[in-house]
Amino acid sequence: MKAVGVFAAERRYEVIDHPMPEIANPGQVKLRVLEVGICGTDKEIVSFEYGNPPEGSPYLILGHECLAQVADVGSSVTNLKTGDLVVPTVRRPCSHVTCAACRQGRQDFCFSGDFTERGINQKHGFMSEFVVEDGANVNVVPARLRDVAVLVEPLTIAEKGIGQLWQVQQRLPWTQNEPDRPRGEGLRAVVLGGGPVGLLGAMKLVLEGFDTNVYSLSPPGSDLAGMAASFGAKFIPAETTTVAQMAEMIGNIDVVYEATGVSSLSFEVLKHLGTNGAFLFTGVPALKGPKTIDTDLIMRNMVLKNQVALGTVNASKQSFADAITDLGQFYQRWPKSVGSLITSRFPIDQVKEPLSGKVGGIKSILTIA
Ligand code: BGC
Ligand code: ZN
Repeated sequence: MKAVGVFAAERRYEVIDHPMPEIANPGQVKLRVLEVGICGTDKEIVSFEYGNPPEGSPYLILGHECLAQVADVGSSVTNLKTGDLVVPTVRRPCSHVTCAACRQGRQDFCFSGDFTERGINQKHGFMSEFVVEDGANVNVVPARLRDVAVLVEPLTIAEKGIGQLWQVQQRLPWTQNEPDRPRGEGLRAVVLGGGPVGLLGAMKLVLEGFDTNVYSLSPPGSDLAGMAASFGAKFIPAETTTVAQMAEMIGNIDVVYEATGVSSLSFEVLKHLGTNGAFLFTGVPALKGPKTIDTDLIMRNMVLKNQVALGTVNASKQSFADAITDLGQFYQRWPKSVGSLITSRFPIDQVKEPLSGKVGGIKSILTIA
């Protein structure tokens, strides 16, 4: 079958012929891959800056943002049936008995660093016609989300981050938690970055009731103002608004959801975080050497304003379930906005195009079946 193989040692990647995987134990399922999203992590892997092949394999099959259909189920699988639309999780646990996180199925918090990730680190990914996966790592998606469910994996970043935001902000005794009232009502959020992670995070914040502002540069040809407005967020152009002006416009910033991976911008914005505010880092910057930041001001603010800064990576199975629920909500409320996050689709044979960095737009997708 066809697959996208990255041969990092030889500094090349291409569509290859890879052996068809088959169910090897009764808990597994065989999936026909429908679509795989492409993100910055994939671009780093095909630039040979990140990622590792499985032990003994000369290549890594790329792809971690997967939408698939169940093709066959092992005899002990009860939660899935042939034809189900599904999204698999990405990270698999380390094997250390002492890793409390992995032993509890929370490899998104792995202590040892010896976790693996499909399509990224030591496990083949999903850019192939079929994959085999443990039934326990697979989440069912309602059929009505077929056209957008490839966005579930990037949305899990917001689900995990904002879930923790509420856990942290329970420290504020007046944080409201009434079942029928959005928890973010009356609070102000800033999203840094207008890419897929930023916009999905912004949708989640709007859904939670926040007054949500997207602060970003606009790539040529993009209409981020129109996109943000279409789901109830405001767009603030970074070309013409300084961070200080942006902060002035908004007032007390309760949450910053960072989705740029640009550390200099992030720390500049951290200086303007509001009283009792929380800053969520989701981006992974390349290591480009030390930079100058005003550590006195940041530390002083953090103490005197009771601020929290939190980094968050990957996602648990629960975050995938939450993402599926929330994507359903987004799609119901803003069907056109959610659909237009996906700006291009390419067949597997043209995989190099969306990975080249020359395709603009928001999210590029590889269509496999
Ligand atoms: C993926 C995460 C992964 C991270 C670091 C992201 O693109 O969505 O699942 O943990 O890269 O490898
Ligand atoms: Zn990704």
